[in-house]
Amino acid sequence: MKHNIYGNTEGIRDALLRELDDLYNWELEEGEFLPRELMRRLADYSCRLNREIAAYLTREGEIVHVAVGTDCDVELIDFRLRRNPRRLSRVRCVHTHPDGDGHLSDVDLSALKIFRYDAMTAVGVKNGEPVNVQTAFLESEKDILLGSAVPWYKVPDKAWLDQIEISDGLVGTEETDQVSEGQERAVLMGIESEESLKELKRLAETAGAQVTGMFLQKRTKPDGALFIGRGRAEELARECQALDADLCIFDEELTGIQNRNLEDLLRVKVIDRTTLILDIFAQRASSAEGKLQVELAQLQYQSTRLIGQGLVLSRLAGGIGTRGPGESKLEMNRRRIRERMTELRRRLAETEKQREIRRKSREKNGTPVVALVGYTNSGKSTLLNKMTGSDVYVQDQLFATLDAVSRRMETEEKTEYLLVDTVGFIRKLPHTLVDAFKSTLEEAALADVLIIVNDGSSSEMAAQHDTVEGVLQELGATEQTRIEAVNKCDIADPWPTFPGAVMISAKTGEGLAELKRRIAEAIQTSYAPVTFMIPFSKYGLLAQIRPLGRVTAERHTDTGTEITLVMAKEDAARAAARYGAEIIQKES
Ligand code: GTP
Repeated sequence: MKHNIYGNTEGIRDALLRELDDLYNWELEEGEFLPRELMRRLADYSCRLNREIAAYLTREGEIVHVAVGTDCDVELIDFRLRRNPRRLSRVRCVHTHPDGDGHLSDVDLSALKIFRYDAMTAVGVKNGEPVNVQTAFLESEKDILLGSAVPWYKVPDKAWLDQIEISDGLVGTEETDQVSEGQERAVLMGIESEESLKELKRLAETAGAQVTGMFLQKRTKPDGALFIGRGRAEELARECQALDADLCIFDEELTGIQNRNLEDLLRVKVIDRTTLILDIFAQRASSAEGKLQVELAQLQYQSTRLIGQGLVLSRLAGGIGTRGPGESKLEMNRRRIRERMTELRRRLAETEKQREIRRKSREKNGTPVVALVGYTNSGKSTLLNKMTGSDVYVQDQLFATLDAVSRRMETEEKTEYLLVDTVGFIRKLPHTLVDAFKSTLEEAALADVLIIVNDGSSSEMAAQHDTVEGVLQELGATEQTRIEAVNKCDIADPWPTFPGAVMISAKTGEGLAELKRRIAEAIQTSYAPVTFMIPFSKYGLLAQIRPLGRVTAERHTDTGTEITLVMAKEDAARAAARYGAEIIQKES
């Protein structure tokens, strides 16, 4: 039977569903907060089903939503009939408590704050009859006015309706409201590591949240259902409520089931570190390829944990954790996700092919590639800008740059090279991201020289270096010449120790001459000019040798052609082996 009753309707007889459906036809009289007859009917249904029932009433006196829950719980819905999300929603929630007690629970009160209902009312039900009723109102962003429970037949309709009007004049109109419109208030739950938690805070801020609370949990053994233990989770629910949180971010990956259970318990949106990082990447991706990569990574992650979707809080549409690159929506079913992933892979393969062509052409003209790699926010983009005088996006935020940016440079000896900026690394970088960004990150793996940019002003420099090392290993970028640079020396305190590293400041330019000298030296060790003497008898070889490097001189002599190229030493050795050592005249 088609009906408009939401929630746990399984096993309810059609006749009763019809009766419930009929509630939508109810129109409240002017001056009625909660008609007794309506209370009676809700009590009756609730008792027959032994489940909670919630009805949502608008200020105009209509019932706009009816939902059935369990014996101790009912789905609470986000209604925003008002544009401004900080004002009251213009809808009040009336629900039953089938255990006979009409007192509002903590969860009810936190839902009142989160969803900004006009009022939250609980009706205690016993033997099919209403018993007592309690109603709460918001008085400000944080404060709740909780009246005492009254017998059901003594509901003060007028006083409660008046209170809605008073609350409406107070809530969301405060000038002192620190949180800018639309900014989500986040509570963070760290597991074990203080440093990682601090970083999570920066990530949350980068994503646009305001962090209102941070907690650290020493994990004894992971809890399958809630990740943290039930007791701690219940405490967290109270903390989220007290801090008026919109979302709670866990510093570890959650399974779909844990995510869902936590949302049920905390009554706020719950996301994990991976979802947060993916969300930031989704906001940052600017190139067509970057967008495809991020969307693929998001869908990959989502497809493994679909169970976490679709419950109470997924109705809180939008916000951190639900945003995709460009206009894409993250709400999809399993089949659509699979299809979309196939499509994204196909399109990515296409762009990778183009990248391969570009790379080949670079190899062909023998330009060495120098890649800047390092932890996010270590100053790679600033360094690239300072060295090249170009204008790359620099922000004191994590992951300001996602797309590999490259600039053509020259050493003092006039050897050309390409300087490439890469995406920043981070601890617990989601695997789906490493996969999706492999082709971008491969810029690093394919470079001839790696400059590892370390943030000398961070007390975490050594740990960050380990992370960078780990990602490079994963990418197979272990063979190249490396230059270690310690950046931000202008503000480093204490002075960082890193034997063998160049001390620089991308901001002031300090140490850059030394860095450039090291780059030239590193390029020299792998790239050098080589002169070939091609006799007339082997003239055809010229066409094969020319593309191996950058031609700096070509001269015709009596016996043949003398050509000088700057090229990778290993390519020179390969050419000699292939075409005969005698054609090599000199290595300069
Ligand atoms: P991702 O894009 O996240 O990988 O960051 P990034 O490594 O490219 O860092 P970026 O160049 O965006 O710099 C991050 C912040 O550090 C910016 O606020 C810079 O102004 C600042 N910064 C970079 N280099 C220096 C430096 O030498 N000294 C000081 N004081 N600040 C610096």
